[in-house]
Amino acid sequence: MLNAAFTAAADAEIAQLKADRVYKRLNHLESPQGARVRMEGRGEVIVLSSNNYLGLANHPTVVDAGVDALRQYGAGTASVRFICGTFALHRVLERELAELAGTPAALSYVSAWNANEAFTPTHAGPDDMVISDELNHASIIDSIRLAKSITKCRSAVYKHSDMDDLKAKLEGSRDARRRFIWTDGVFSMEGSIAKLPEILELAREFDAVVIMDDSHATGVLGATGRGTAEHFGVIGEVDVITSTLGKALGGAAGGYVAGAESVVDLLTQRSRPQLFSNALPPTVAASSLAAVRVLRAEPERVTRLRENANWFRGAIREAGFAPLEGETPIVPIIVGETALAIQMSELLLDQGVFVTGFGFPVVPKGEARVRCQVSADHTRDDLEQVVRAFQVAGKKAGLLK
Ligand SMILES: Cc1ncc(COP(=O)(O)O)c(C=O)c1O
Repeated sequence: MLNAAFTAAADAEIAQLKADRVYKRLNHLESPQGARVRMEGRGEVIVLSSNNYLGLANHPTVVDAGVDALRQYGAGTASVRFICGTFALHRVLERELAELAGTPAALSYVSAWNANEAFTPTHAGPDDMVISDELNHASIIDSIRLAKSITKCRSAVYKHSDMDDLKAKLEGSRDARRRFIWTDGVFSMEGSIAKLPEILELAREFDAVVIMDDSHATGVLGATGRGTAEHFGVIGEVDVITSTLGKALGGAAGGYVAGAESVVDLLTQRSRPQLFSNALPPTVAASSLAAVRVLRAEPERVTRLRENANWFRGAIREAGFAPLEGETPIVPIIVGETALAIQMSELLLDQGVFVTGFGFPVVPKGEARVRCQVSADHTRDDLEQVVRAFQVAGKKAGLLK
């Protein structure tokens, strides 16, 4: 017998989410991810809410590499890496990810979520202080929570990109054995870039370790897409960089931690998502490796992404919207209430533009937004069509006159 009370409670919660109009309905795609996709029940739509920044999710080289690896290695090792071996392919991938990040070593995980979750409990001990930007990704926040409960490290949160507050938190933790500063490279809901040079300066002043999650910066920032460190000309100066393979680098899944040999090796030795969970499937590892190589061989994709993002920011502003200022391909348009963000995304989908509205608790109350994400794969026609759709939807929703 199933537990009826348990199911009834879940039913009630789901009904409440629907009544509050914050229930997330999944849209099903019938074609590969790209600038335009076929959506079940909708036909062709332009995608403006994917992290497929470089358009590599369906790149022939990336797809073929996955197929070839499936034939060469099969589906997987059927256990965790230290127990039953690891594929040579993972070693090559990790070497090239380290080169991309500008660090001596890297270790892959099945997701960036896992990579982040692995880091803090492995490295932050009871006498250490972990200091985190308030807008850091949920996986960083959970990683710190986990570390606090496992190793009893201390933690503090500084106001978003507020260097005075970070400094105060560092001052207040002089007694700690070590200080870790955790930051996103690019903040996913704002599209803003971390003040990395200032963070590094403070880290030097207070002898702190900097860990940066570059998930929205890898393949995006810097002249050749090597991320936030390249953007600021400080490659090799960030102690630890984590990132995802699930966005610009092919978009399947996977993540990694890049840093010094021993720092990474300790993760192999001790991090629980590594010790108690399988490695990336070879298909995904090979596709990601191919994506890294396409990025290295074709930096013009990064240039195109930047040009598209700049054009879109200007055009959407001219159309009467006020996107958050920034220089990344994440272009958030604040609309206020969650219901309005959801209404905007529905009105846009009616016109063939797929872009998601985000509300509380993903973003602060009253700051619900439609988050646009531009890809190198969008043509000018795609983006012009998007701007026209925004004008129509904006008028219907009462955001534009
Ligand atoms: C900043 C950041 N870190 C980590 C992740 C998690 O990435 P993954 O899908 O590889 O777990 C995301 C994905 O949303 C992200 O935006």
